[in-house]
Amino acid sequence: MPSLIAPSILACDFARLGEEAAAAEKAGADWLHLDVMDGHFVDNISFGPAVVAAVRKRTSLPLDVHLMIARPDHFLPRFVQAGANRITVHVESEARHDVAATLAAIRAAGCGVGLCVNADTPFEAAEPFLGDIDLFLVMTVHAGFGGQKFIAENMSKVAAAADRRRHEGYSFHIQVDGGINAQTAAEARSHGADVFVAGTSVFGQADYVAAIRALRGETAPAPL
Ligand code: DX5
Ligand code: ZN
Repeated sequence: MPSLIAPSILACDFARLGEEAAAAEKAGADWLHLDVMDGHFVDNISFGPAVVAAVRKRTSLPLDVHLMIARPDHFLPRFVQAGANRITVHVESEARHDVAATLAAIRAAGCGVGLCVNADTPFEAAEPFLGDIDLFLVMTVHAGFGGQKFIAENMSKVAAAADRRRHEGYSFHIQVDGGINAQTAAEARSHGADVFVAGTSVFGQADYVAAIRALRGETAPAPL
């Protein structure tokens, strides 16, 4: 599968959100990743549907919405209305919603269906749902904040998902999110990941074109 790069606007200049989204598109991003946090599911608050709708007006890139919220089922219609193209929910929100029903609701709304496992969650928690999804997101940091260090132990989940994808004939994307730079993207790619979320290593860089090319593995990574 070709590598897709999804810059996370969490690391952009929020005061220039429209320009940042347009700049990422012009620089060659494949999707835009939008991290929604509610202060309950994770210990941080980012933005909600109004900001997704604002970004929608400024880019034609697919909007890849990552819901780190306690009640994704409840808020889902508002993100669909805002213009999300793909919506990913966490398997750990299970105490608060019926994961299978929420995945079916995302599908019925016409959006791509994503399921995420947080850094401490075993691969097995997602296994029952692998036949129902378009995207499997493996967190490579603990969800909640940008700028954290990549946790390499999560590569076993990427490998397990790639193995299941091959053996069952599934076609879901395998996405990694958190601490992704040219080096860690290459590591994740070698285990089977094909979609790379990057906040700091795109929006924290001066040259978005070079940053995206490096993440895609088109240029040699800079030495550590
Ligand atoms: C963390 C978010 C990530 C975050 C990644 O909870 O899901 O998408 O923006 O940020 P970086 O790339 O800076 O680690
Ligand atoms: Zn994310």
